[in-house]
Amino acid sequence: MKPASRGTLPEVDETLDPEDWDTLRAEGHRMLDDMFDHIAGVRERPVWRPIPAETRARFREDLPRDGVDVADIYREFSEHIAPYTAGNIHPGFMGWVNGGGTAVGMLAEMLAAGLNTNVAGRNQMPVEVERQIVLWVRRMFGFPDTASGVFVTGTSMANLMGILVARSARIGPSVRQRGLLDRGARLIAYTSVATHGCIAQAMDGAGFGTDALRRIPVDRCHRIDTDALRARIAADRAAGLEPFLVIGSAGTVDIGAIDDLAALHGVCRDEKLWLHIDGAFGALGVLSPEIAPRLAGIESADSIAFDFHKWGQVPYDAGFLLVRDGEQHRRTFAAPAAYLRRETRGLAAGSPWPCDYSLDMSRGFRALKTWFTLKAYGTERLGAMIDRTCALARCLEAKIAAEPKLELLAPVQLNIVCFRYRADDADRVNADIVASLHESGIAAPSATMLDGRLAIRAAIVNHRTGMRDIEALMSAVLELGARKS
Ligand SMILES: Cc1ncc(COP(=O)(O)O)c(C=O)c1O
Repeated sequence: MKPASRGTLPEVDETLDPEDWDTLRAEGHRMLDDMFDHIAGVRERPVWRPIPAETRARFREDLPRDGVDVADIYREFSEHIAPYTAGNIHPGFMGWVNGGGTAVGMLAEMLAAGLNTNVAGRNQMPVEVERQIVLWVRRMFGFPDTASGVFVTGTSMANLMGILVARSARIGPSVRQRGLLDRGARLIAYTSVATHGCIAQAMDGAGFGTDALRRIPVDRCHRIDTDALRARIAADRAAGLEPFLVIGSAGTVDIGAIDDLAALHGVCRDEKLWLHIDGAFGALGVLSPEIAPRLAGIESADSIAFDFHKWGQVPYDAGFLLVRDGEQHRRTFAAPAAYLRRETRGLAAGSPWPCDYSLDMSRGFRALKTWFTLKAYGTERLGAMIDRTCALARCLEAKIAAEPKLELLAPVQLNIVCFRYRADDADRVNADIVASLHESGIAAPSATMLDGRLAIRAAIVNHRTGMRDIEALMSAVLELGARKS
């Protein structure tokens, strides 16, 4: 179709919809079939492969002026994009803490994209689906019906927002006009040295700065030392500062440690502090009868940040913030504006809206893939799958303990195993082993530093990972270690 020339009206039927729906439909069916094959056949491919220089170079072309056929674009996608992802759908992927997703979740994403609705709010069923998830999340964590929840990108954002809610609960409504001018400069937050770096980033983003975050020591299992926490709070009060927030961990990023959440709740109750939990992956342990007792106390938190896209296996991204005091949550973010007027009827009814609980205005339909996932598998099966990843971690731990060439660097508490090959120049050798493992395509663990020593870190999150993947990782590490040391 010719574009309208300047000064003339566009043709009435000039849209971006296809002229020939049947061709696009056939193309779409092919894409869907191919993507099922891509997921079903994932084990046959390497976990990861390096991007050839010419492939990377293709993606430096000029801004396209004229459109090309979708079939051609799809060919480019199949040849040059799909083979070169990070590989976290692969059973051999054990790096960082990434979920594997499911084909069911993929279908829900496709449906959500088709609806293309903005879940900022308004009187529509997608908002009700998100409210349904809020209700389920309250049940999961034993929170009251007055608690609120909202989907966000991931736990980094949910942590920032949790800190902002705690900030406005302490300072009061004036914080929204005067920022930290009134009392903010004296406010202090506490977390352990083992928490994720996004907590410090959030303190920075919330205007406190990272100096206002006290990093409390941990025990040998990386759980916060609550006596040291109490002592630090007392010292800060004595110095004229104002403690306001404790951030506990339900699954630390390095080794999966769970703080004593009930003890943290005790400290926060006595000291009148807000208790926020970073439960990025570990919080969903509440679905496992085996892990849930170790999360005791989580039901008393003021707010919890976690991801459905990690242990919940919902496709990226699906972060979530749950807040006990829903009204405080709304007061922190709701921003009345004439163009967001609420009504009691029509499309602008149904207030409050999800955007009243978030920094985001435009919001995709993350709730749909989460709703599909929870309904398709149920919490029992998801809980059993979470247990299985922990059982695999324990098997790997036992194998390492029985192998004199390997050394365990931290106790295994959930689904994360940190170990290394014994060698003279062990940091170099093990970093080299990890990179070579990636390049081999056999397995993709990541690396971290524990007590100044480089560890190979296998975080078993993917529901597709099985015993043979653990064995493949073990033998590849031993073989590479023997070659490189
Ligand atoms: C304990 C912990 N907190 C926070 C995060 C950040 O979560 P996200 O990547 O969803 O922002 C992670 C990521 O792995 C994590 O493990």
